[in-house]
Amino acid sequence: MSAPKIKAPRGTFDVLGQDAARRTTLEARARAILEAAGYERIETPVFEATELFARGVGESTDIVRKEMFTLEDQAGRSLTLRPEGTAPVCRAYVEHGMHKRRQPVKLWYLSSFFRHERAQAGRYRQFWQVGAEALGSEDPALDAELITLLTRLLADLGVRGLRLRLASLGSLDSRREYRERLQAHLRANEADLAQEVRERIELNPLRAFDSDHPGTRQVMESAPRLSEHLDAQDAAHFAEVRELLDAAGVAYELDHTLVRGLDYYTRTVFEFTSDALGAQSGVGGGGRYDGLVQQLGGPPTPGIGWAAGIERILLAGEQEGEQGHGVPVASVPLELFLALEDASPTLRTRAFHLLCEARAAGLAAQMDLGGRSLKGQLSHANALGARYVAILGEQETMLKDMQAGDQESLASDAVVHAVLRGHTAL
Ligand code: HAM
Repeated sequence: MSAPKIKAPRGTFDVLGQDAARRTTLEARARAILEAAGYERIETPVFEATELFARGVGESTDIVRKEMFTLEDQAGRSLTLRPEGTAPVCRAYVEHGMHKRRQPVKLWYLSSFFRHERAQAGRYRQFWQVGAEALGSEDPALDAELITLLTRLLADLGVRGLRLRLASLGSLDSRREYRERLQAHLRANEADLAQEVRERIELNPLRAFDSDHPGTRQVMESAPRLSEHLDAQDAAHFAEVRELLDAAGVAYELDHTLVRGLDYYTRTVFEFTSDALGAQSGVGGGGRYDGLVQQLGGPPTPGIGWAAGIERILLAGEQEGEQGHGVPVASVPLELFLALEDASPTLRTRAFHLLCEARAAGLAAQMDLGGRSLKGQLSHANALGARYVAILGEQETMLKDMQAGDQESLASDAVVHAVLRGHTAL
């Protein structure tokens, strides 16, 4: 009797084949765009102290209330698999004294995150994000830079039907007064609100804008608008962000109902959606979080950033009915394939030695590892798209140029040099 099969947990998936190749391309594009703009790679641990997210992301958010994978270590400390990357980056900024570096400190990451959500297409329990964070400046040009970079990355990766929504939530101070007005409006209409919205009137009244509940939506139509209650400084900051985006030719819609699912946001917030995606249409989003570093024990430090979901970028980059055409596939062209005339151990040893030599010289090289006949090896080399094939025999070695169709006989230790020479001659 065979052992029962074990499946990957719900909401998780394996990355392989074409999908892995498309992710490699995506990562290369992200690196090229972000590093050229001065962003440095950062990677933080997969798990962090639970306190980091409770304090950073906010006790009233769905993420902290319902979606965290939390565990206890042997010493009874509470740890959580990171549900997002901004709080960990701010934690690292404080821990490494990055405020002493030249500001702003600009960082980017490509990592996996974990949320205990109901799994469906485009929504997983382990998913990947590419993200960028810039700490230490409140210059509106930084807001415009980050939004422009994400616009460029998504366009570059072939994401279809993109829409960018933009709003300002004001600074913490100017929002306090607005919150009170909104709470008063919600309390006055409490009977028509969804249970969940009612429960959050004290903690997070702004989330009411996010509700699908018909009664709540109606109440929100007459709610006071934050955009009309920004103080002069916040309004000027937001006007400058918009001017810079206009100058850069970035199209956006102002949306005063835009609230994001995390508590740390202040001032500029934005979200990209794609109409090529179904219910989970959010491709990426972000905003300013000018109070977060201080909230995590650091010095007062403004910050802004975004994150975009890799799976959603790939889904929204696919053409109808096809798989994997939005983002071109990254592959390393095979330069040399080593075929063996027979399976003798001495010949295999010689071929293996030659393989190592070719790789050390920087060639993309492979040899037969599947016990194929010579004919099978040649057709395998063909299928792999090899540029050159060396057929190693007891007596002689033949080097075939698969593009030109010609071949020459040579000593096996001259193969690497010949292939390299062939390349420079091209
Ligand atoms: P977020 O909006 O929660 O923001 O997530 C950003 C993106 O991650 C979403 O737009 C979506 O594409 C993807 N995403 C989120 N949850 C899932 C899931 N369960 N399955 C698949 N994809 C998902 C943040 O995480 C903030 N840290 C962004 C940020 C950075 N704000 C400032 N800096």
